Amino acid sequence: MTVKRPDVLVVGAGVIGCSIAYALVKRGASVTVLERETPGGVTSRAAAGMLVPTAEGLPAGPLLDLALQSLAMFPSLAAAVLEEGGVDVEYSRSGVLLPAYTDEVAEELRARANSGQDGSQWLSRAEALEREPLLAPSLHGALFQPNEGHVHPVKLTDGLTQAAARRGAAFHFGVEVDGLVRQGDRVVGVRTGGIERHAGAVVVATGSWSGALARWAGVAVDVQPVRGQMVSLRVVPQPIRSVVFGRPGYLVPRRDGTLLLGASQEWVGFENRATAGNLAMLLEAGKRLVPVLEQATFLATWSGLRPGSPDEAPILGPVRGLEGLALATGHFRNGILLSPVTGELMAEYLLHGKAKPLAPFSIERFGERKPTKG
Ligand code: GLY
Repeated sequence: MTVKRPDVLVVGAGVIGCSIAYALVKRGASVTVLERETPGGVTSRAAAGMLVPTAEGLPAGPLLDLALQSLAMFPSLAAAVLEEGGVDVEYSRSGVLLPAYTDEVAEELRARANSGQDGSQWLSRAEALEREPLLAPSLHGALFQPNEGHVHPVKLTDGLTQAAARRGAAFHFGVEVDGLVRQGDRVVGVRTGGIERHAGAVVVATGSWSGALARWAGVAVDVQPVRGQMVSLRVVPQPIRSVVFGRPGYLVPRRDGTLLLGASQEWVGFENRATAGNLAMLLEAGKRLVPVLEQATFLATWSGLRPGSPDEAPILGPVRGLEGLALATGHFRNGILLSPVTGELMAEYLLHGKAKPLAPFSIERFGERKPTKG
């Protein structure tokens, strides 16, 4: 059995797959999205939603350029998703504050501010406490980056899904892809159970699960799951205004008064569960940054699996020897941040062949790939 052939079939309905689907339907393409789990996939729903390339310390070069390009897209994307998808994604340019509690960190952060490269400012202790009065007062000062902020990752993913669906994208949930349909070097679709689903092009946007391409076509995709555990708390009133990015631990204030506290970084395979040890570690980190969190109401803890590539940059674009197939995976700690630009660049590549902006993120940077014969 085969089903109606879309221009593009996207495997994975996390934020990356949904962003690609939305960018494609905006350009008039017909799109089908297949997701093994429920809407939003697994990892995007676990994210904190920080939009903080400075705080994440992305090195100057193609990844930082991509991140800044994507960051600049959020105001218009948020407006479009509200209008077309009916979802307020809670985009906030709250700024991000990196407090320094040791001389060493203060020196490093002050040097970054003094380099004047990214518009971040060094705040004295008094200035930092004026901005965030409930920070632990022993800080030496802080780096403040006013241009960055956060978004609600679940609302962003859901909003992109709604907006894409309203423009005609078809979403199928609980559908697992178990192989590619190939004609020689060309990928012409995917197999799900007994069904062949043909498409003009196939995009693999399955995050930590992208390694399945090795089973499907003998191509190793260099992505490992990197577990991140999160906590949510409530303190009334909300104790911070900006994202606070400590070492360890970060805090993200949500509009509904929830405070997110993240995150562990663990290489434990696909073991997607929250542990008592990490919960204790995160609560301690949060309390050290903002002591009133000792009195916070504990709401929940959960975990997600970041798709980590060897150089922590995404893997985007074609795979030589598998014409008609493209990858959009490996976004590691920055999937939410990079979702708008990934959607736009992938759509331009898939529909208009514009491959150049994707070149720095090619899978071939990790070595040549030789698919098995189709
Ligand atoms: N972007 C934050 C994290 O991955 O924990």
